[in-house]
Amino acid sequence: MNHRISFDAPGGPDVLQWVEAALPEPGPGEARIRHTGIGVNYIDVYHRSGAYPVPLPAGLGFEAAGVVEALGSGVSAVALGQRVAYVDGPRGAYAEARNLPADRLVPVPDTVSDEDAAAVIFKGLTAHMLVTRVWTPEPGASVLVHAAAGGVGLMLVRWLSAQGVRVIGVVSTPEKASAVRAAGAETALVVPRGGACDDLPAQVKALTNGRGVRVAYDSVGKDTFEASLASLAPFGLLASFGRASGALPMVDPAGLGSRGSLALQRPSIFHHIADPTDLRQAAGEVFEALAQGKIRAQIHARFPLKEAAEAHRLLESRATQGALLLIP
Ligand SMILES: NC(=O)c1ccc[n+]([C@@H]2O[C@H](COP(=O)([O-])OP(=O)(O)OC[C@H]3O[C@@H](n4cnc5c(N)ncnc54)[C@H](OP(=O)(O)O)[C@@H]3O)[C@@H](O)[C@H]2O)c1
Repeated sequence: MNHRISFDAPGGPDVLQWVEAALPEPGPGEARIRHTGIGVNYIDVYHRSGAYPVPLPAGLGFEAAGVVEALGSGVSAVALGQRVAYVDGPRGAYAEARNLPADRLVPVPDTVSDEDAAAVIFKGLTAHMLVTRVWTPEPGASVLVHAAAGGVGLMLVRWLSAQGVRVIGVVSTPEKASAVRAAGAETALVVPRGGACDDLPAQVKALTNGRGVRVAYDSVGKDTFEASLASLAPFGLLASFGRASGALPMVDPAGLGSRGSLALQRPSIFHHIADPTDLRQAAGEVFEALAQGKIRAQIHARFPLKEAAEAHRLLESRATQGALLLIP
């Protein structure tokens, strides 16, 4: 019998249950993937906690790698026995096996392990969106990256730095600051947990000859939004792509103008890879960046799939550097 993680009501990690789940034969256009590694992402926390409400009962998870073990009719995109990875809905990656539309699966190169594929496909594609679609990196430009030692954060810092961008990372501990500098950031500023970001814009201006940064990559949301805006140079861009600390405030577009002709974008990976051709192209570029060392699969810890709740506790504790994996 197949097992998966499910929850009946929003709440803390304790709501996650290990349940038996029947798995039908793959339908037309679908493939069944037996998972070998499953990525834990902050969006899973938003779904579990109710920050992003979902119809219940619900499965969880968007990211995994594994092996194709059955095919529905009409599938030509993947073959039996092929190693694949994916980042996509519907939620349900926290499972031993599942069926998915075959055109949402990407082949994993022989040079990339299953664990590394599970650790990079979601976070790497998010970083890819940020360094290709949201802003084209300019060597010598300064940017700000919040949660810079996180799963997406370390990949983004590495990818930007590899292209000559001067990265100012923001983290909550000196240990994380070391990790961010090791990933290529020029500077890492520490704002301890519970600390306010009030001084951050002045520190950023001091590091950029009074000008501010070209882009602020902000996945923290409520606690950092105002500091991110105040850290931008004229015509700067706030790329607001997450809300780990809570929902964003309402924004008056006129205020963006008076503060320096600023731009605000809320990019989503699900738009970035909606087209299957774009998905395969972008995933190929992520695996290439991995091969070239522009990004790394940094795995902080692995948990048995059954213990997904433990992984969520660790992620929410803000103690992780890099990715968390669930192993079926
Ligand atoms: N828009 C998209 O398409 C997209 C795609 C993927 C991920 N994301 C977003 O990117 C962010 C990073 O995702 P991830 O899975 O890689 O997680 P992560 O960065 O590994 O973990 C979240 C980090 O956020 C920081 N943080 C700051 N304030 C926090 C708070 N009040 N509560 C919890 N964490 C706080 C913590 O780092 P410090 O302790 O160092 O501050 C923590 O380690 C998330 O916001 C996620 O939603 C967006």
